[in-house]
Amino acid sequence: MTSTYARDLDADLPLLLAAAQDRGAEAEVVVWDDPAVDWSSYEAVVIRSCWDYIERRAEFLAWAASVPRIHNPHEVLAWNTDKVYLRQLEAAGLPIIETRWNVGEGDDLGEHAEWVVKPTISAGSRDTARWATAEEVYAHSASLIGAGRTSMTQPYISSVDDEGETAMLYFGGELSHAIRKGPLLERGEGVRQDRDSRESITPRVPSAAQREIADHTMRVAEGITGSTFLYARVDLVTAADGSPLVIELKLTEPSVFLPQSDGGERRFVDAVLARS
Ligand SMILES: Nc1ncnc2c1ncn2[C@@H]1O[C@H](COP(=O)(O)OP(=O)(O)OP(=O)(O)O)[C@@H](O)[C@H]1O
Ligand SMILES: [Mg+2]
Repeated sequence: MTSTYARDLDADLPLLLAAAQDRGAEAEVVVWDDPAVDWSSYEAVVIRSCWDYIERRAEFLAWAASVPRIHNPHEVLAWNTDKVYLRQLEAAGLPIIETRWNVGEGDDLGEHAEWVVKPTISAGSRDTARWATAEEVYAHSASLIGAGRTSMTQPYISSVDDEGETAMLYFGGELSHAIRKGPLLERGEGVRQDRDSRESITPRVPSAAQREIADHTMRVAEGITGSTFLYARVDLVTAADGSPLVIELKLTEPSVFLPQSDGGERRFVDAVLARS
């Protein structure tokens, strides 16, 4: 399942279709808000690139609740589409990036050279920015709150500039592969709107510490939601002391970076077939 917007942008879709065909399974790409689709006719509906749901989250979740045999399930989507879930991961003992919620004028921002301000409901870095002054942080946070959104303020994790992020892809609960994603926020560029326009993705072998934190994140999220996940992506960055921090857990519409994997599409399709 995709969106009109992403149908030709999602590089994972052609590989998934080919892998399904190899396994002798019928598969097609359909658009989530196409009224002509009979969702009940499928043995499995797999959410992929519904990248236009951000401004239509309530409509998207209502749609997902109405679709039988949807992966990931509706309650997982409802939980995962607002990054306030990070508080629960933190409460369960996972290392997340130090985060202040709904920062107001004059609030303590900690001693940091730069900050990131972003809305809790977002993807593709939309409405996200990197700032070097407290005034800019306060103004951005106020504009998000003024628009009825929840804002998050974090220190800018400087290792991202060289090391990038590490995304760990799990299909059917098993680690399939990992990739490096290059930095996205440039100093002084202001608030970003475009999605994925300059993502640089390369394969990466995760460290033992990254595997341990990503596996732990999966177990904690399964416990909180009471579900298992057909697909999951744990995104990690590296703290100043070298330890991994969870930047986000994507259970809704993550790119799964199949072009940068070795056979990930087969593992994904096998996980779908195991659940259908
Ligand atoms: N605290 C931070 N320190 C450094 N870089 C950050 C930080 N927060 C966000 N970024 C950068 O901004 C990008 C987007 O932020 P994040 O991944 O939290 O939100 P998103 O919009 O859901 O992302 P996605 O592109 O994965 O959908 C990250 O990929 C990273 O490059
Ligand atoms: Mg991200």
